[in-house]
Amino acid sequence: MIIAIDGPAASGKGTLARRLATHFGLPHLDTGLLYRATARALLDHGHDLSDRAAAVSAARSLALTDFDEAGLRSRDMAEAASVVAAIPEVRAALVDMQRRFAGRQGGALLDGRDIGTVICPDAACKIFVTASDEARATRRALELRGRGEKVDYGAVLEDIRKRDLRDSSRAAAPLRPAADAVVLDTTKLDVEAAFKAALVIVESAQNSLRAGHPAY
Ligand code: DC
Repeated sequence: MIIAIDGPAASGKGTLARRLATHFGLPHLDTGLLYRATARALLDHGHDLSDRAAAVSAARSLALTDFDEAGLRSRDMAEAASVVAAIPEVRAALVDMQRRFAGRQGGALLDGRDIGTVICPDAACKIFVTASDEARATRRALELRGRGEKVDYGAVLEDIRKRDLRDSSRAAAPLRPAADAVVLDTTKLDVEAAFKAALVIVESAQNSLRAGHPAY
């Protein structure tokens, strides 16, 4: 089965996605890394983030094994990824790669912003993970500090709001819950409680799938 997890920055979707993938034995693709790696490649080759032709070429040259994950997780790369992700041709260049991953036999779990709406509109299970701006900024500041970045809570809160606005107001595949997604608000949930709540959602989707396809 395909599990689609979407949500804004630092909503907890990454942690949840990794845990669910391990629990259900599914391959996991963090699609944010595709946009982060595209932005990184662009900057490394001396291009500007607004250079659309170079951005599309960087996106087309990506391979799923390319990622230096630690180097892509910085605050700067998050912002840069959001900028290139607003270029429709960049998104188009990354669609097939994501759909091929999703189409693996036995299923897959993908997380991002447009998985339930654009990449896998027929996913059997869609979860839209969200949390208050303040809870997300607190988590992101802790995470960045844990990685050695010197960050200020207020600046992180501002980054998150700016990035959410750009991600949800762009014309191409804006961040929004699919009509058939279950919204999971993790503001008051710790990692364990969020995981348990997500398990209930996935198990219910599995049951519906089995009811619709008895041989599944
Ligand atoms: O999930 P993340 O924070 O690593 O994503 C970084 C940026 O990439 C995010 O601000 C918007 C973009 N993104 C996207 O537009 N679509 C996706 N499916 C995943 C990420």
